[in-house]
Amino acid sequence: MTEITTVIAPLDGKSLDRGASLLRQGRLVAFPTETVYGLGADAGDDMAVARIFDAKGRPRFNPLIVHLPNMAAVERLVEVTPLARRLADSFWPGALTLVLRRKPRARLSALVSAGLETVAVRLPAHGGARDLLRLADRPIAAPSANASGRLSPTEAQHVAASLDGKLDLILDGGPCAVGLESTVVDATGETPALLRPGGIAAEAIEAIAGGRLVVAGSDDTAPASPGMLTSHYAPGLPIRLNAETAQAGEALIGFGPARDGEAANLSPSGDAMEAAANLFRLLHRLDDPARYSSIAVAPIPQAGLGRAINDRLRRAAS
Ligand code: TXA
Ligand code: MG
Repeated sequence: MTEITTVIAPLDGKSLDRGASLLRQGRLVAFPTETVYGLGADAGDDMAVARIFDAKGRPRFNPLIVHLPNMAAVERLVEVTPLARRLADSFWPGALTLVLRRKPRARLSALVSAGLETVAVRLPAHGGARDLLRLADRPIAAPSANASGRLSPTEAQHVAASLDGKLDLILDGGPCAVGLESTVVDATGETPALLRPGGIAAEAIEAIAGGRLVVAGSDDTAPASPGMLTSHYAPGLPIRLNAETAQAGEALIGFGPARDGEAANLSPSGDAMEAAANLFRLLHRLDDPARYSSIAVAPIPQAGLGRAINDRLRRAAS
């Protein structure tokens, strides 16, 4: 292990004040949310937002999610459609991101939305994240706090391992409860389009929207999300999917009843929510070339959060 140079501070009143003050000065602060850790910066400050892209090595065409403490702050930035209001009433604060049309005079760096006319917004449920947003008192852009293309962090140590020296403070709130990034839904029109499966199951969104979610990119009416690059969320080791047994040198990650030679299990009881919370932590832990040559993952049923887990695994494997 190389030495960590960025300060990792336990989340408390003092570190939250420090974090908010750094954000107001245009600096980068990693903070916990219920989904994954975010790399935050003032969304209205061009230089601060540019620092995010620089620290992550993120392509400039991939827009960021803007995090806000309440609905009033959302309404200052974007046009809230009737569909968006229904989804917000049901799922905010929480693991849902809504893509909406940007208001002409919104105080947002153009870099945040990579030149698009829409902005992705989210009200996180994590108490520490909400405190930080209120104290910073401005929209905070925050992608997952990992180097571009790599696994998202669900613990403060994951952030340090991926971005050490490239940010100003890491607020440590312990492991993330959901463990998967938010579900991203385009709610600019009357029919919602799924841009990224995530911490809230597509079925739950369909129940509120009263119809099937169009999957982005599947037809011309559904715009694709620029961030949905095929290879993404990738650990360093190769990944093999739908594995029933471990081959030589492989770390097998099970799901449900244990298989022979399993290195870890996402959820012995076969619960997709528990598996989501464990996914990135186990991948981070087993991504160790000194111990394994590759990672194999047992089949996970394609329902509820299983769809989002399989989406991440397919990207990690490609
Ligand atoms: O759970 C999460 O969403 C975490 C936490 C920190 O909130 N954030 C996160 O951000 O995962 P990021 O940057 O890693 O992923 C943002 C996704 C990308 O796929 C991006 O392309 C999409 O949201 N996105 C952002 N703005 C968009 C827009 N205006 N139109 C379409 N897609 C957009
Ligand atoms: Mg990300």
